[in-house]
Amino acid sequence: MTDMETPSEVRPDVARPKRAHWHIDDIAYGAIDPSRVFGDEALFHMVASASFIETGSDTYTHNLVAHFADYPEMASWLSAHWEPEDLQHGAALARYAQTVWPRFPWRAAYESFFAEYSRLCTMEALQAGALEMVARCVVEMGTSTYYQLLRTLAERAGEPVLADLANRIRVDEVGHYKQFLTDFKTLKGQHPVSRWDVMRVLWARLRELRESDSDVALRHVWTHAHAADVDLFPDGSHTFEELSGRLFHLLSQNLPLEQATRMTLRPLMLPHRIENWLQTPAVWLGRRQW
Ligand SMILES: [Fe+2]
Ligand SMILES: [Fe+2]
Repeated sequence: MTDMETPSEVRPDVARPKRAHWHIDDIAYGAIDPSRVFGDEALFHMVASASFIETGSDTYTHNLVAHFADYPEMASWLSAHWEPEDLQHGAALARYAQTVWPRFPWRAAYESFFAEYSRLCTMEALQAGALEMVARCVVEMGTSTYYQLLRTLAERAGEPVLADLANRIRVDEVGHYKQFLTDFKTLKGQHPVSRWDVMRVLWARLRELRESDSDVALRHVWTHAHAADVDLFPDGSHTFEELSGRLFHLLSQNLPLEQATRMTLRPLMLPHRIENWLQTPAVWLGRRQW
């Protein structure tokens, strides 16, 4: 792909258009046809586990705001935009889950998830200065990829309300990515970091993406959806391992890897020619990793 073809969404140099931000009330919950997705075990687990992580995101925001207290503009963007947007993602997804799967005990399941998850969000887990912004870029690359995939699966299931919700969230996540990339450049300008350090953080965070938060959320969703008095999918996966295997397969088959790779490589700030040249082997490596 040449630079001319680079999707403008991942080109940080393109000025971000001012857009009216959406509100949870804009989602047409009343128009959902539950029969299209009710029996879809994969979609349920994707929606519910994302709703947990997004709802718990304020814990993480407070840590980040404290971490960047010396940079008031960055800290205020985190509390004024990032946090309310992610909390709205959580609320909108939770409402979707409760509309289609009303028997799922969302609150009880979330509380058991949060008791475990809040212990993982510690200050020690944050990188210093510009390198934390690299880690944030990887996380936002991961979330935007996830919602792109959720949108694709919702479209395939013929459920336009979920496709619309997933797409709105995806656009927000791309916006977060762009903001963190801008902040990375600012901090790097003040306290230079080596490409080697950037590469080390990229690699470490990519590995973590496969293990941490989403796995915790998925386990708590599974446990509560399969409690004897709920049993949402009597004909679905028999064990948690079977379900995660199914999801893993679904993800690896449908991941938009080209875009994800471009977003991952961008903080290395390589010359365009080299970035383009690296794109193909990096996609190959990403596919192998999955
Ligand atoms: Fe989010
Ligand atoms: Fe985000």
